[in-house]
Amino acid sequence: MVSSPSAFTRVLHWIIAATAVGALASGYGLTQPDAFALSLLRLHIALGMTAGLLTALRVVIWLKDGPPPPVFSIRSRVQVRFSRWVHGLLRLAPLVLLASGIGMVALSGSMPAIVESTLPGLSAFEPLPPRRLHHAAALGLVLLVGLHVLAAGWHTLHQARPGAN
Ligand code: HEM
Ligand code: HEM
Repeated sequence: MVSSPSAFTRVLHWIIAATAVGALASGYGLTQPDAFALSLLRLHIALGMTAGLLTALRVVIWLKDGPPPPVFSIRSRVQVRFSRWVHGLLRLAPLVLLASGIGMVALSGSMPAIVESTLPGLSAFEPLPPRRLHHAAALGLVLLVGLHVLAAGWHTLHQARPGAN
């Protein structure tokens, strides 16, 4: 443990974590056979938009002020590199999901049907190129969050942690 991130950075991290995990759960729930519900799609879009837009805000802060101070002190160069890559991709994935999600809704022209509750299912999105990217980025995010949570658990068990993220 080397220093403590600001309260704002911490709150932002946990709101993004909760909304991104919620978007993953609602997204996979939505695409199960016969599980489509418009309310679930609306919830998914609200969670996904929040996670994506707050990630964009965090990236702007990161570009302006530099990265937040690391919570855990890592000495191994391999671990430093690995953690940089995982954190970098954790910033990128919600942005790709935001862009591809908006792309699907815009290209299918289904926004009015989503608002008016007349969308019958997900078939409008099936032929669209951003759908494949959205599915691939979602799977990537699942793997990254898995690695990230395992690493946070490992560091917590192996180090004192007075000011965690
Ligand atoms: C759900 C359980 C999660 C736990 C327990 C967790 C825990 C942590 C901890 C302890 C750190 C500090 C690591 C360090 O600086 O050495 C951290 C940083 C970070 N986490 Fe998470 N996290 C979670 C979910 C997520 C999710 C879902 C995302 C992104 C979609 C995310 C993105 C990041 C990023 C980008 C950092 C680097 C520092 C920053 O930019 O704020 N985390 N996380
Ligand atoms: C962090 C943000 C997001 C995450 C983690 C996420 C995650 C997911 C997941 C896991 C699926 C199901 C993928 C599969 O079955 O393989 C999905 C589907 C979908 N998402 Fe997202 N999503 C996000 C943002 C968005 C946004 C912002 C929109 C729209 C503005 C959106 C619209 C959709 C739609 C329309 C589908 C159904 C596509 C289909 O026909 O399979 N998502 N999303």
